[in-house]
Formats: sequence, C-alpha cells, structure tokens
Amino acid sequence: MNIHSLLVSRFKQALTQMQVPDAAAPVTRSARPEFGDYQFNGAMGLAKTLKQKPRDIAQMILDNVELNDVAAKLEIAGPGFINIHLHDGWLANQCELILHDPRMGVAAQPQQNVVVDYSSPNLAKEMHVGHLRTTIIGDAVVKVLEFLGHKVIRQNHMGDWGTQFGMLLAHLSDKLEEEVAETALSDLEDFYREAKVRFDEEDGFAERAREYVVKLQSGDDKCITLWKQFIDISITHSEEVYEKLNVSLSRSDIMGESAYNDDLAFVVADLKEKGIAVEDQGAQVVFIPELADKEGKPAVYIIQKSGGGYLYATTDLAAMRYRSGKLDADRTLILTDARQALHFKQTEIVGRKAGYMQPEQSYEHCPFGMMLGSDGKPFKTRTGGTVKLVELLDEAVERAGKLIAERSSELSAEELNDVARKVGIGAVKYADLSKNRTTDYIFNWDTMLSFEGNTAPYLQYAYTRVKSIFRKAGIAPTVLNGEIKLEQTQEHALAVLLMQFEEVVGVVAKEATPHVLCTYLYDLASAFMSFYEACPILKDTVEDQTRGSRLALAALVANTLQQGLTLLGIETLEKM
Ligand code: ARG
Repeated sequence: MNIHSLLVSRFKQALTQMQVPDAAAPVTRSARPEFGDYQFNGAMGLAKTLKQKPRDIAQMILDNVELNDVAAKLEIAGPGFINIHLHDGWLANQCELILHDPRMGVAAQPQQNVVVDYSSPNLAKEMHVGHLRTTIIGDAVVKVLEFLGHKVIRQNHMGDWGTQFGMLLAHLSDKLEEEVAETALSDLEDFYREAKVRFDEEDGFAERAREYVVKLQSGDDKCITLWKQFIDISITHSEEVYEKLNVSLSRSDIMGESAYNDDLAFVVADLKEKGIAVEDQGAQVVFIPELADKEGKPAVYIIQKSGGGYLYATTDLAAMRYRSGKLDADRTLILTDARQALHFKQTEIVGRKAGYMQPEQSYEHCPFGMMLGSDGKPFKTRTGGTVKLVELLDEAVERAGKLIAERSSELSAEELNDVARKVGIGAVKYADLSKNRTTDYIFNWDTMLSFEGNTAPYLQYAYTRVKSIFRKAGIAPTVLNGEIKLEQTQEHALAVLLMQFEEVVGVVAKEATPHVLCTYLYDLASAFMSFYEACPILKDTVEDQTRGSRLALAALVANTLQQGLTLLGIETLEKM
C-alpha cells in the first residue's frame, strides 16, 4: 500500500470534480503528530485560479474529497492546509493484509530496463576508500530496483585500459623473468609505485612504456597476454573486496573500458560526419555552446587527442551508445563522485546530439560527496597514503569483535566471529549509506559502531530485540492469527510508519538515494522502541487479544527491518 499515492489520487478526483483537474495535488507527511499523519497543501496554490480565499478552497476540497474509509479526521489549519489523520481501523486492516507477506505489500512497478554503472575501479591500482561509496550505494540502488521488479543490468565500467598500462606492463615483463605474476602483483600499490619510480627516473624506461602502449593498442600477442595477466589479478583483488562487502557484483557484470576499444574510431568518425565534432589544433573536439563560460566561450569536449589517442570521454560516448542501443536501457544510472559531474553533463549533451539516446531514455549521473577523515580532509592513512579498502574492512570487523565481546558473554567463539563480521561490515556500509548522497561526510569509527543513534548496530540490535520477544513468548510469527487493533498513539504511529515502506523504496528507486531508506528504518526502529515501552506485550496482565495484536505489529517491524536492511546490503542477526 502506498498511502501517498492513494491520497494524491483521491485529491485529484476532488479537484476534477471542482473543474480544476490539472491543479497540483501536493501531499506530504506531516512534520508533527498534532498536524495529523499527512497534509494536503494544494489549496493556497489555487487561490488565484479560483479567485477565492485558500481556507474557503480547502473547505470546498473537503466537501469533494472521498476519504471516509481512510481518514478518521480531516481538518483545515493555518492559511489553508488540510491535515489528514488516518483511521485506526483502516490502518489496522492494511497491516493485517501484509502480515504474512514477505514483500510487505509492496507492489511491483511497471518494468523498466535499468543500467547501473557502479564500482568501476581503475585496475592499475588496488581498490581504495574512494571506491567505497560508488560500490555500496550502487549495490543498494540495484537491490531496490530489482525488488520493485525492474530488470537491472549491472555494468562495472572498470578502468582497464589507457596509457598507464604501458608503464605497468613494461615493469611486469621485467619482473616475470624472476617470479610469477601472482607474486609480482600480490600488492598492486607497491607494484604501481615501483613502476612509477622507474618511469620517472630510469633511463629509457619511459620510452619502453610508450612502446608498450602502442603494442597493446595494436593488439600485439605478447602484450595482450601480459595485460590479461595483469587485469585478471587486479580483478581478483576487487572480488575479494566485493565478497567482504557482500555486494552483488560478479565477473559477468564487468564491461571495462577496453570492451569499447573497437567502437572508438567509429564514434569519432560518426561525430565528424554528423558535423558535431570538428578538428581543432590537430585534435577532434566538440564545442558545447550550452555550457559556455561567462564570456560566452563554449565548453570544449575532446574526443581524440592530436596524437590519435582516445579519451575517457570517447569511451563514455561508446558506452552510452551500447547501453541505449544494445541493452535497450530505459534509464542509465552512473555513480561516481561529484567531481565528474561536468564530464557526464557534457557527455549527455554530445551523445543526445549524436542520437545515441532517444529522448525518452534517461541518463542520470548520480554524484556523491567524499569520505573525509576527522580533520575534514580526504580520508588518508596516518602516514598520508591512500587507505586500502581491504584493510579498512578488516579493521572494522576487528573493532566490532572487541565491542561485541565486551557487551555479551553468551556467544560462542564462532557466533562471535559471525556477529563481528556482520556488525563491522554493516557499520561501515551503513555509515556511508545513511548520509545524504551528495554531501561529504566524516568517517568516524566510534559513531558508526555505536549501538545508539542512526547506525547499523542500532538497527541490527532492534531486530534482535523483536526476535527475542518471540523467543520469550514461545510463538512463531507465522502462527499469529493476524488480528490487529490500534489503541495507543504509539501503535498508531508504528502502523503509519509500517505502511510507508512502499513509499520510501519508491523514492530510493527514483532518486538513487539509499539514505532515505536508512532514515526510515531508523525512525521505524525508534518508533518500535517507544511502542514497546508504552505497550507491554509479554506481561501477564495483557489480554490475549491485545498480545496477539501487538505481536503482529512486532512481526511486521521485524519483517520490514529485515527487508530494508537486506535491500541496503546489510545482514541481520537472530541474536547479538
Ligand atoms: N573508473 C572511473 C574512476 O574510477 C569511474 C568510471 C565510472 N563510469 C563511467 N562510465 N565513466 O574514476
């Protein structure tokens, strides 16, 4: 059930009856309980059209809107707001309907093909903290889209091509005279650094590196074999991270930059033929007047360098063509940090001019802010180096293990390890997912591992609390007869939140903003804690019928927390 859509459609009907069918029907959640559960804010906007006072219009809307079944009370407030207090009986009924439904009553949306380009690390180096956000935000968005019935095509647009591979392959070729590739590449950071030092300092090495680039691009056998060895090992490093992070990317989702190699010449020729690209100082460029600077000079978008080399931009145009054409994408979502925003804006303008996308196909760059250290600067190791993702995740599990061991003595060593892993990884992921996607955030071990506040441990703990109520009651949620009665305000508040799950996942799918789901789950868990304090379940004095009803609400909370956390890629536990 999507309460928001239901209310909007009922108000639309009323507006149609009032002969203003095109008027907006803005419905929002009320900020405070005394304003009801939802508010309709459309009366003020109609004052001009209808030439009447907003409060009178609000009254007309009330006379026309059909909400008897849904609302217990509708009242006009302030300049002309309509406060909607949902009906306890109706809410209880909606909750009963979804009690045994693992989807929580969430309907599938009309199916779309959605390409999601995420993670996409550069393979020349090991994955570092800069890849964390794209990988886990992308994976959460993918899971939500799939949950809503869309066909998601994951595209891991790995940086597996380009001039830096010349340097790496020349170095690898030398190293292989003494050792095997796996040993030489066991630490990609060290390997990269060594190669870079040689490139900068060793006589003749830079020259050899350049030759390797040319050989690689012309498909030289020996060079391709070396390259394959390199990227294969680098991909294996990434897979280790994916597994630790519990994200759903696999090898078959990789469509790296190299995959578009054969299309690049075509893209350049095509843009020239269509008069979109022109030659400028030996390079092939597109001038973009839509993105002119203050003096009116158009932005310059280079698609081929004067030496003939192609660029990141050229590859992204080829990728756009492939995704819209071959993959038939209704939507393409690309998750990278905000610094690439201009690149994707330009790519979209150029690609659309070239006809690589149809007007109804959307191209959505979803930018995110940076992860910062406690000093407010980009997150680094104590010595100023980049933090390897594998090491960060191992530290998270270790820290969580210590905390859990202090809190609980009932767990066996094996259980403790499992809890530490789920809590540690969950904490890192949730800390990231719960922040507004577009802003920078400060990475802090203590806050993310806290059992209080908007954190993974808090939500995981809330889930185990509900589970323990059922264990104590000696009842499985599946045997509940499902009669629900809402009597206390806390029960009402909890039921409203439970019914909002569909609304929330809809927003996440549309806007690629998992933090909306995090805030919701936090509100839900907090509402459950208040409910449990005010509305006893297990006490002897509680009547059977009331207990059954409250257990049903508790079961719905557990289902929603479990489903919500699963969509975020965070594991739940039975006890901790
Ligand atoms: N490899 C790039 C980076 O690490 C991200 C690629 C994003 N996807 C794309 N189609 N350009 O910055």
